[in-house]
Amino acid sequence: MTNNPQTVTDARGVPMSWCSESARAAYEKAIYQFQSYFGDPTETLTAAVEAEPDFVMGHVFNASAMLMMSERALIPHIKDSITRAEALAGKATWREKALTAAARYWMEGRWHEAGATWDRVLAAHPRDALAVQCGHLTDFLLGDAVNLRDRVGRVLAHWDKDVPGYSFILGMQAFGLEECNHFERAEEAARAALAIEARDGWTVHALAHVMEMQNRYDEGKTFLRSTSPNWSPDNGFAFHNWWHLALFHMEAGDFDGAAALYDEQVIPEPSGVSMQLLDGSALLWRLYMQGVDVSGRFASLADMWAAKTADENGYYAFNDLHAVIALAGAGRLTEAREVLEAVKAAAESNPDLTRMMAKQVGVPACNAIIAFVEGRYDEVVDALLPIRSYANRFGGSNAQRDILSQTLIEAAIRAGENGLAGNLVNERTVHRPFSPMTRRFAERVAG
Ligand SMILES: [Fe+2]
Repeated sequence: MTNNPQTVTDARGVPMSWCSESARAAYEKAIYQFQSYFGDPTETLTAAVEAEPDFVMGHVFNASAMLMMSERALIPHIKDSITRAEALAGKATWREKALTAAARYWMEGRWHEAGATWDRVLAAHPRDALAVQCGHLTDFLLGDAVNLRDRVGRVLAHWDKDVPGYSFILGMQAFGLEECNHFERAEEAARAALAIEARDGWTVHALAHVMEMQNRYDEGKTFLRSTSPNWSPDNGFAFHNWWHLALFHMEAGDFDGAAALYDEQVIPEPSGVSMQLLDGSALLWRLYMQGVDVSGRFASLADMWAAKTADENGYYAFNDLHAVIALAGAGRLTEAREVLEAVKAAAESNPDLTRMMAKQVGVPACNAIIAFVEGRYDEVVDALLPIRSYANRFGGSNAQRDILSQTLIEAAIRAGENGLAGNLVNERTVHRPFSPMTRRFAERVAG
């Protein structure tokens, strides 16, 4: 491995091919925006590459950051950025070429190869903020809890409080520890990160996950409400932390409070961002299962999904499931089945990884939602019971995938499968011993 002699370094001492001071400043701004979710890093670097077309890291960053949005509609822009970076191979450093290769792997559906390539980059440059964050977000999209913890663990020793962005690395470690059920250590890392950077929404999110898993819903409500001035205004990730606050309200049985958060914070206005719509679907489905009338909200959310699903169907099964939830919840079963058909097609023809996600989890999960809405609860149980133990394979967090467990329990109760429902509630009691929601399930099973 050799680097082109004409290099500069970023703020963390990582080399990149020569670029102007203003391009370098734009890169640092974009890295901060990417880490903090304040502002639009792609907008920042699109302006930079327009001014300086041979700014390699500008193109590499744009491709990588757009990939993390998990939207098929962005592929033409991603492809353009990758092509432009590849055309600069004569100037690019080894690291830049490797990052470009990782982006291409990802675009082609080879997410594990992308992850391995980022690991190779991090072996040489452990302070590469772009590589560690793209790796972390991909581990999240893969539902890979171990790497959420360990990818950060492999590089953390090379960071300290004097390295710009250290708090964000600690925050990522907190989330990985939480997904691996190391709750105390996760909280320790999150609190250390927040002591450095209180505005870090991802770290706030990691701590919210700890509180969710430990049923600290009252404390969670206070924590998120009291810190929201730090992480919410003008932040591209805030909707998800508000979604977590809604989960705390759900746990407490305050369904009106959860619905109000949907209206005011999760989906306050029409959106085209899959990750945001996904949270909307996940919250409305929880309310719907509790018997709350959310038909009007489902109707408008279904419009938002329908405005984009034709392009997106079958791209990422985790998103597809949530499109089906909104469409089925709105009674638009023909369109819900069209998404399901696209997921079935993806289960046959997608690249290996996303084909597996669609086939093993996407198809049965989408089937389960449609069956639930149509009152075929025994079929919901048939679809979800076998896949629940490996549903992490289609991505997301433990808290997000809890929707499958809740749907399974609810369906088992409604199907009159009290033995199974009782066992599932017992299981939930083991890892959520103080959960009012679990208690409510238990009372219904007993009743
Ligand atoms: Fe989350």
